[in-house]
Order: sequence, then structure tokens, then C-alpha cells
Amino acid sequence: GALDMGERPETLDAIDKAIHACARCPIGELHNTAVMGEGPQDAVLMIVGEQPGDQEDLQGRPFVGPAGQLLDVHLAQAGIDRGAAYVTNTVKHFKYVQRGKRRLHQNPSAKEIDVCRWWVESERMIVQPKLVLAMGASAARGMLGKTVSISKVRGAPIPLEDGSELWVTAHPSYLLRLDGAGREEQERLFRADLAAVAARLTELA
Ligand code: URA
Repeated sequence: GALDMGERPETLDAIDKAIHACARCPIGELHNTAVMGEGPQDAVLMIVGEQPGDQEDLQGRPFVGPAGQLLDVHLAQAGIDRGAAYVTNTVKHFKYVQRGKRRLHQNPSAKEIDVCRWWVESERMIVQPKLVLAMGASAARGMLGKTVSISKVRGAPIPLEDGSELWVTAHPSYLLRLDGAGREEQERLFRADLAAVAARLTELA
């Protein structure tokens, strides 16, 4: 489970303030800025990524870079209104290594996820979404506290202890790294996962 970090913040604003001051892991000590989730506090759907990327770090918003643009295309195709969803990340700071002028993404460690997931759990407790879409292994670990195989758990909901449903899919950045037939196949699976979530949203509406 999530590490006990003391009293939970009671508002999204309090989380926003606290993550900007967070130094519970070394990622927060890089040259970066915490990125808070965004969207309606009463959203039915919460979409969870891994961590902000370069663009998200610069703009201070989740999923505004290349992965976010691909996500937007797929959400629109599935008929899911991004503006009605609460969009956030498991890890609040961008983890990178500097290579010349570029900052290259680094995967967060399991330990870093397990420390940081306390924040996304706090967001989930406030928003209380009925559906959670976790994209990628880090987001799935952030929601479950353990590592799962995406190919094994995708396509069916995982019940969470508060009665909501967790749906796990691949991360859009993973799609961006593929090409050819592999890309097509993974896009198809991603589309199918979003269609299933869209259908559940309609049922729950
Ligand atoms: N990838 C993520 O996981 N989250 C973002 O916000 C952007 C890229």
C-alpha cells in the first residue's frame, strides 16, 4: 500500500501547494516544477499517466506534449470528453537526464512511485471517480501499489476498494516509440481499451 505520509490534504489546492514543496524523493530536487492534475473535482473519469514530460514540466499541465496530443486524438475518437475528466500523473515531477540541450525522460523507480503515489491517491480520494484509467505500468503501480502486466490486466475492470473500477491500458508514449505493424497493433488495443471505458461511462451516466 501507499506509505503513510501523515495527514492527507483535504483539497486539491492543498495537494497542489504541497507537491510544489515536496522533497520526499530525489526527483523533486532536479530542475523541474511539480505538475498538478487538472479537471473537474466531480469528474466521473480519472485518467492517470506516469509523470510529466519535458513539455508538461515547462507548461505546468499534464499531457500537453506529444503523448498528450496522441491521447487527445484517441479520446476524441472514443467519444470521451477530456475536459470532463480529471487528468493527472502518478509521479508529480519530471525525472530526466540532461543530454546537451535535451532533457531525456527517465522511468521512475518502483520506490519513487511508491513514495509519490500518496499524492495521486489523495487526489483520487477527493475526486472519487467511478472509473480510473491508468496508462502504463507506472500508473498501474500507482493505483494498485504493485506491478502488474498490462497485457494480462487490460480489457477488464479491476475493482478498487472504494467501489470504483480501475482500467489499465498502455501508455501513449509507448505507442509513440513503436512503428509499422507493432504500432498498428498497439494502437488497435489502445483504441479498444478506450472504447470499453467509453461504454462504461455511458452505462454509469
Ligand atoms: N506522460 C505522462 O505520463 N504524463 C504526462 O503528463 C505527459 C506525458
